[in-house]
Amino acid sequence: MSLLFSYPDNEEQAVLLAKEAGYELGAIDIHHFPDGESLVQLETDVKDRDVILFCSLNQPDSKAMTIMFFAQTAKELGAKSVGLITPYLGYMRQDKRFHEGEAITSNIFAAFLSQHFDSLITIDPHLHRHKEMKEIYTIPAQVVHAADAIADWIKDNIDKPVLIGPDEESDQWVSDVAQRAGAAYTVLTKTRHGDKDVEVSVPDVDQYADHTPVLVDDIISTARTMIAAAGHLKDAGMKPPVCIGVHAVFAGDGYEALQKAGAGKIVTCNTILHPTNAIDLSRLLAEHLKEREG
Ligand code: R5P
Repeated sequence: MSLLFSYPDNEEQAVLLAKEAGYELGAIDIHHFPDGESLVQLETDVKDRDVILFCSLNQPDSKAMTIMFFAQTAKELGAKSVGLITPYLGYMRQDKRFHEGEAITSNIFAAFLSQHFDSLITIDPHLHRHKEMKEIYTIPAQVVHAADAIADWIKDNIDKPVLIGPDEESDQWVSDVAQRAGAAYTVLTKTRHGDKDVEVSVPDVDQYADHTPVLVDDIISTARTMIAAAGHLKDAGMKPPVCIGVHAVFAGDGYEALQKAGAGKIVTCNTILHPTNAIDLSRLLAEHLKEREG
């Protein structure tokens, strides 16, 4: 039976997953010294065990050292394998050198994780210019999709939905969710001028005047993408949109700004703990793990 350790932020999700997958939970202590260094202590014996760390990699810079210390220590202490379940995988959006001299962090972060872990599972990573994880990961890196769970939530909660993807990249998951939910969809185009300066095209929604607009994106970070799209829907006289994100990154004032911008309900999956989590993906993850283990 695998031994599942949880990064401190993720205990709630790890407990749910351990229950669904029938894993034993391990104990870990992470001490932060006054000088900013940290000490990781594995309090459960890992010798000859298949060990998995559950750690969502939002705010990745503050977690990278700790997870590396965890993986290396587990190996030194005799773990058979050390896997990573990271429901949200950070650093996937910088997948090219947009400006001269920039780091392509998706590749560098993939090399870092591949060096320290034996395998990885994540949920809907931001695959855009990289089409598959194996283009940048040298370890088995599997992807679980939230589309079914999101479609079920829409079917159960929204009357006459029309799904709207805020940019071209979102086409892949919006079309999938729409098909599973039996709903119409449209996709907009986006230009990002800066972190909080986003422009999206005006949606052609005249034929959906009596529908409930549902904005669907993989990541909600500053929420400026959703806010720009919601503004157009308001101008078109539609109902306040239901805003669905797989990953509730919500950087800075993103959540409050989206609420103030007239969003209807804001709904996310529990890949990152947030008050908007309404779609639990632990069963989906557990099913994937059971299939993988045969
Ligand atoms: C990138 O294109 C993603 O799919 C999201 O659209 C983006 O990360 C959302 O970012 P923000 O909430 O900061 O506008």
